[in-house]
Amino acid sequence: MIRNTWYAVGLSGELASGELHGMTVAGRPLVAWRDAGGQVHALDGRCIHKRFPLAKGRLLEDGSLECAYHGFRFDGCGQCVGIPALEGSAARLERIGGVRPYTTVEQDGVVWVWTGDGEAGDRPPRTPEIADVSWDAELWGPCTVQASARLLVENLFDLTHFYPLHAGNIGTFADAAVAVETARSADGTPPLLGTTRRREGFRFGATKGGWFGVEVGDNVATHEMVVPGLFRVVERVAPPSGLGTDAERSFVLYHTITPVDEGSHVWRRVVCSKREEAGAAGASAGRPSLAARVTADCVQVAEEDRWALEEQQRMFAFPDDGFREVHIKSDAAVLLARRILDELEARERPVPAPAG
Ligand code: FES
Ligand SMILES: [Fe+2]
Repeated sequence: MIRNTWYAVGLSGELASGELHGMTVAGRPLVAWRDAGGQVHALDGRCIHKRFPLAKGRLLEDGSLECAYHGFRFDGCGQCVGIPALEGSAARLERIGGVRPYTTVEQDGVVWVWTGDGEAGDRPPRTPEIADVSWDAELWGPCTVQASARLLVENLFDLTHFYPLHAGNIGTFADAAVAVETARSADGTPPLLGTTRRREGFRFGATKGGWFGVEVGDNVATHEMVVPGLFRVVERVAPPSGLGTDAERSFVLYHTITPVDEGSHVWRRVVCSKREEAGAAGASAGRPSLAARVTADCVQVAEEDRWALEEQQRMFAFPDDGFREVHIKSDAAVLLARRILDELEARERPVPAPAG
């Protein structure tokens, strides 16, 4: 599991002021809350006294978090600021210390936590469309999937599963045959890996064609693993030769992928589409936004993916005993994603001390 990275713990609207949220992120227990001033804090979720879960406590008038077991109190930085059973000076409390704080950043409508050791090396990835009022942004989730976060990354890079897994909605047999261009970041800066699929004169399935009002047309789809916890998809569709003109329609789809542990993760999908100007050519007056329609149609799609990931995960419980996966040309992006994630994980592993 990769920890030296940013993981989303919610969209801004999910963290209301004054509520404690307990969660496990990348194998670490956390408690997070938004204070009265609007700032989000995240601390180790275990009380330093006897490990009681701090999320079961409460926030006091002065903004401190009181543990529900013996009443140790902590400020937003994790410092212990009060102990009912101890007549202590501030200096004494300072010596006692506190719980570990986690760096949080709220940016573009997303709350991010750095789960790594030490200081965050960079800023969280940008998701400008989510917070931009000229875009509609629709959230699906959060959904806990009983499968490794890696399996979702692999699923998102692998469109050859659209038939048969999504054959009843967005999938067509022809999706599997579209050529894939793959580009890996040369220096490790985001996006870490991206793919591009180009279709010309393509006959879309009814669902996807309906979103864009195009039965046969051109399409460019990009899929990027920005960082391990964020995936960005851009779908652009137009009638033949219409890409780059006013006839083009598009949406941006973010997936936040937040590992809980090695065998489960929290998944959010946020579809964003540019708000249509009233009266503009092609505007769908009175209809829900493209983002809302895509989100509604993809509830079933997401359930199908979740089913597949959880079934797949169950098979990892068995020893390999000579079993080995067979890969085909269209798995190239998935294999590259695996390699990148393996490399990031290996970098975090402690170097064994020399023998002797
Ligand atoms: S466990 Fe939290 S105060 Fe004792
Ligand atoms: Fe899928």
